[in-house]
Amino acid sequence: MKTFISTPIYYVNDVPHIGHAYTTLIGDMLKKYHQLLGEEVFFLTGTDEHGQKIEQSALAKGKTPKEYADEISAKFKNLWDEFGIDYDCFIRTTDDYHCQSVQKAFEKMYQKGDIYKGEYEGRYCVSCESFFTETQAVQGKCPDCGKDTIILREESYFFALSKYQEKLLQWYEDNPDCILPLHKKNEVVRFVENGLNDLSITRTSFEWGIKLPESIGDFKHVMYVWLDALLNYVSALGYGGDEKKMDFWKNPIHIVGKDILRFHAVYWPAFLMSLGLDLPKHIYTHGWWTRDGVKMSKSIGNVIDPKEVAQAYGVEVLRYFLMREVPFGQDGDFSQKALVDRINSDLSNDLGNLVNRLIGMSEKYFNLKISLADTTKYYQAELKFLNDILGKLPPLMEQMQLSRYLEELWRAFVLANGVISKYEPWSLIKQNREEECLALLGLVATILGKASLCLYPIMPATALKIAHCLKIEISHQSYQKLILNQELPQDFTIEKIDPLFPKIDSFKMEEAKIEKSKTIDVQTLINIEDFSKLDIRIGTIIEATKIAKSDKLLKLQVDLGEGRLRQIVSGIAKFYAPHDLIGTQVCVLANLKSVKLMGEMSEGMVLATKDEKGLSLLCTSDKKTNGSKVS
Ligand code: ME8
Ligand code: MG
Repeated sequence: MKTFISTPIYYVNDVPHIGHAYTTLIGDMLKKYHQLLGEEVFFLTGTDEHGQKIEQSALAKGKTPKEYADEISAKFKNLWDEFGIDYDCFIRTTDDYHCQSVQKAFEKMYQKGDIYKGEYEGRYCVSCESFFTETQAVQGKCPDCGKDTIILREESYFFALSKYQEKLLQWYEDNPDCILPLHKKNEVVRFVENGLNDLSITRTSFEWGIKLPESIGDFKHVMYVWLDALLNYVSALGYGGDEKKMDFWKNPIHIVGKDILRFHAVYWPAFLMSLGLDLPKHIYTHGWWTRDGVKMSKSIGNVIDPKEVAQAYGVEVLRYFLMREVPFGQDGDFSQKALVDRINSDLSNDLGNLVNRLIGMSEKYFNLKISLADTTKYYQAELKFLNDILGKLPPLMEQMQLSRYLEELWRAFVLANGVISKYEPWSLIKQNREEECLALLGLVATILGKASLCLYPIMPATALKIAHCLKIEISHQSYQKLILNQELPQDFTIEKIDPLFPKIDSFKMEEAKIEKSKTIDVQTLINIEDFSKLDIRIGTIIEATKIAKSDKLLKLQVDLGEGRLRQIVSGIAKFYAPHDLIGTQVCVLANLKSVKLMGEMSEGMVLATKDEKGLSLLCTSDKKTNGSKVS
């Protein structure tokens, strides 16, 4: 069987962070799992390089979009190479073969009558590259990311998405696990049930995109970046050109973050229906990695560099932590403490020590030769228990319950550690019950051998080390035999290996590195004389009124104890209602040169701070006399 697995293609306006690494590591994990099942896998990843957002980001850096894309795309590719990601193709949407394939697809949809020309009028979020109606974009903000949208009114080609509403609903119904987790699927179904508008799929107000096919002409249009991007999944297989690899499309699996589910679960299947291609088998949707509850992203500046984590703790640990710590589909906060706790308890105690104990005892008592001849005789119940545990794993993987999968798998290690404590090989030896002791070590080695096969997709290097120690093979054949058919392995000759996960007693990454976004720029240090130039005073707001025609500004009258009121115009109207401010004490920069804002004189600045939760005015812990100086 042939299977196709993809990650999203990442925008080149962002450097790779933990969130991107998460998706890509899951892709690599799934590839390895499907290979154990004996499937031939095509694993695709790459970069999304067209569109208004990339054009703007490049411009801001003084580069051409292509130069800019080359630079960032290489960063993604290099990171995946360093992480040993086993992708079969790294696609770039600026690759010629991709552009040609997209034009072919456009032509096909056009010939089918699914594309027509019209005019688009509405809101557009450049950051999400997504269209919204006036009602969806409340106060002009993007309902997905909260950033300001722009008003668009331009000639556009449309894809007749509305035509596919019923067919999509039918597809969701006929394929219960086409979108997982299920609560995410339900959101999609509700969205589609609410009605679909036709989708604008070309733009004329910028240039950085794929032109329409020759047969249509109209070269002032470039394709909508999401049409271009989604088609990467089939262009990578040669769609519209040399289609030899298209047979991987029989069984396509997509991994996406929840931010882009709508594109994959609504638009993409509709495009595929229009092209007469098979629909995705699964769209696996994961949650977000956050810092203090806020989605990690470069624009917020709260990202963690996966390279630093891997350099400090190793990529195996990173893989384990990301897949174990947070149930797939939910958001999770990244913390170094949680990571170190996982290393010390799960990896070092439960797994690493177990391997050491097995090596130590089999050397001491049996010269590293472990026969299984009597294991079934003495430990039938334990073997059955082991098979029960391991039998639960495949369905958990099918349902993408990764952290549950690992939790179950760890029960096998707990079982192995448990039988050692319970039956005490050292006591058995003392009592001359050698046969039982050998059978017991045979049981422990069997548990480790089988478990290492199941661990392989998540921690390939670790699994291979254990397999090397036990001289078992990690392959489809042994997976079939030992896991699916629940057979016993051959006798073991143990090979000594170095300890797998030494305990960690202090953090290996400076917290400052993790918290990079929160550190203060040391390039711009000032001395005390600089600071004393600022005359910051405490004042009380006596009056506050809205400024006509401005939704941002309020006009304040502030008492700074000067015997007169100061008028200060402040950009806080979105966060405070005027009447709530009366009587509030605030900090005011009192020696700021006066300026006119929206026709109103402003003599100073009210100090405030802003984070993702909004804006707050600075104040003192107790009431102070108006005019008190801040120093
Ligand atoms: O959306 N937590 O690209 P993108 C977890 N080019 N995953 C995260 C994450 C976070 N904080 N931040 C990003 C695009 N991701 C389009 C995709 S596909 C045809 C086009 C991961 O660079 C997650 O998988 O914004 C998310 O869906 C993806 O990166 C978005 O990457
Ligand atoms: Mg994004």
